[in-house]
Amino acid sequence: MLRVVVSGVTGRMGHVLVRRIAESVDSELAGGIAGRARDGEAAARHGCGRIVTVEEAAPLLAECDALIDFSTAVALDALLARHGAALEGRSIVVGTTGLGEATEARLDTLAARARVLSAANFSIGVHVLARLVEEAARRLGAGEYDLEIVETHHRRKADAPSGTALLLGRAAARGRGTQLDAVRRDARSGMTGERAPGEIGFHAVRGGGVVGEHRVLLLGERERIELAHAALDRSIFAAGALEAAHWLSGRAPGRYTMADIAGSRARTGEA
Ligand SMILES: NC(=O)c1ccc[n+]([C@@H]2O[C@H](COP(=O)([O-])OP(=O)(O)OC[C@H]3O[C@@H](n4cnc5c(N)ncnc54)[C@H](OP(=O)(O)O)[C@@H]3O)[C@@H](O)[C@H]2O)c1
Repeated sequence: MLRVVVSGVTGRMGHVLVRRIAESVDSELAGGIAGRARDGEAAARHGCGRIVTVEEAAPLLAECDALIDFSTAVALDALLARHGAALEGRSIVVGTTGLGEATEARLDTLAARARVLSAANFSIGVHVLARLVEEAARRLGAGEYDLEIVETHHRRKADAPSGTALLLGRAAARGRGTQLDAVRRDARSGMTGERAPGEIGFHAVRGGGVVGEHRVLLLGERERIELAHAALDRSIFAAGALEAAHWLSGRAPGRYTMADIAGSRARTGEA
């Protein structure tokens, strides 16, 4: 039985993940972390016995097998800064997006003594899409095809462009033999002048309850190619994150990606 602590347990993703854990036969919820502590009925409303803050989380982390984090970039950074030692030897699955360089560095350091997997998107479909985007960008060169990424999310999303849009942008840049930072162009506005060749443009639409949609456009003079993905509900991300936590069990410390999971699935003929 995998004992899981969910950070961000009171959030949209936290709720779906708690339900997923309750339905599974090989995982159990060890407890939850959120911005505000909750006990009794207030905690039970979120499917938890007790919810603690990052500051109080040490005893909870000490007795879990895996931490799954869908909180905020600031909360995750605080958790890693404060509880690096308690997290040693555990599996850490990070779904939170918009992480800064300092947080990435903390995850790298922790990966010497813990199994760490972070992904901007836990749906397998998005990772297949990324492979297709890389291939399309390679075949349809920057000289002839302009590449733009449009993403749409619910009105409460905190970061833009989405982590998934950046993941797709990095795949496109790889296909074109360059680094995303060298060609990234965010949200044009004002007197922008002509589009520079080779740019990868990002556009973030925000509104309503949209779970997550991504569209990669390759725009030529005489044709247009579109590659797209839409998440129909959040359970796809929760299932992927829980699968990642199980997949990490028993592996060596290190930093893993969704591609590692896809690779071992392919080897075992699962997908
Ligand atoms: N990788 C993926 O597949 C994937 C999919 C969907 C979303 N995401 C990402 O997952 C993250 C969460 O998304 P969401 O829509 O679930 O967000 P949300 O509904 O806003 O939930 C945020 C959660 O973080 C907690 N939190 C806020 N401040 C905190 C603090 N200082 N310390 C500890 N916990 C704190 C909140 O607790 P309170 O209730 O106490 O404020 C809440 O439980 C975002 O970064 C989003 O982009 C990733």
